[in-house]
Amino acid sequence: MLKKIGLIGGGYIGGVLAQEIAQRRLAREVGLVDPAPMVNPSDPEERQAVTRKQSVAIGKCLDIAEGLPTIARDITLVGSKDYSSLKGAELVINTAGVPRKARPDGTFPSREELLAINLKVTIQVAKGIQENCPDAIVISVANPLDAIVYTLDKRLNPPKNKLVGMAGVLDSGRYRYFVAEAARVSVDNVNAIVLGGHGDDMVPVRSSCQIAGIPVEKFLDAATLAAIEARTRKAGGEVVGLLGFGSAFVSPAWAALEMAESIIFDRRKILPVCAKLEGEYGVHGLFVGVPAILGRNGIEKIIELDLTDEEKAALDKSVAGVKKTCDEANGMLATL
Ligand code: LAC
Repeated sequence: MLKKIGLIGGGYIGGVLAQEIAQRRLAREVGLVDPAPMVNPSDPEERQAVTRKQSVAIGKCLDIAEGLPTIARDITLVGSKDYSSLKGAELVINTAGVPRKARPDGTFPSREELLAINLKVTIQVAKGIQENCPDAIVISVANPLDAIVYTLDKRLNPPKNKLVGMAGVLDSGRYRYFVAEAARVSVDNVNAIVLGGHGDDMVPVRSSCQIAGIPVEKFLDAATLAAIEARTRKAGGEVVGLLGFGSAFVSPAWAALEMAESIIFDRRKILPVCAKLEGEYGVHGLFVGVPAILGRNGIEKIIELDLTDEEKAALDKSVAGVKKTCDEANGMLATL
């Protein structure tokens, strides 16, 4: 159990995180930051006064706190509109940013289109961490995932082990779920890794997919697997399209907690995570999804897989996409 976990963003993912941290007894204290609702300067003064008193973060914390006697948990929950409730956090999970939301015509913006808005938010996030818990291990979930983690790295310049993005656990969870469903076996039996960026070019690695240690090809034919892999790449968008009010939130929260638990309890699980590569997989200075051991120091070790030529080419393509978004982010950061 940690002394304190900080959560940035009190939206749907942040809410699940706070309640699960209480339920799973992961920390004695949770600090939840969210500036919402923001005061609109063009509102009449009475309306502004009402908004100033409201706080999603404080409200969510109070809601969970009032349920603690029912679930028999003792944990302190502190919410704030500024970053002060992060003070002293040993681990921070960042979900701050605008999610992908369906447009009225049913289409939705790509993760990259959110870049401009979410970069501004990320600059504040980095400042808040720097001022309140500069030594915390940071797990970042906000989109566009790879570029936001890259931006946090640029602003915070933390040791390589202390900053990690959550995408691969979610993406491989989706791959595993679809495989389990098609093969009609327990999800628990399916192992798989998804590499690369958290975009439509992500790489579900078929050669790493096994059912109870047996290659997946023994259970499913090539066409079925290709369809599952295509669905995995677009699975985030599938949920956005169905929900209509934002993106998936339960599965991303659980995925971030899988990583947090491996760190908190020093379990040293091998999980696909977004890590800074410095030569691994031939990549320099970008954050890309790769398998790594997560333990008490955060990223303990990056694992290099032997990929087929086809998988290697797919990873190169995905990395090129990550680089393009990061270059764009660099350009925008210079002006922000
Ligand atoms: C998704 C968003 C959270 O993949 O990135 O659902």
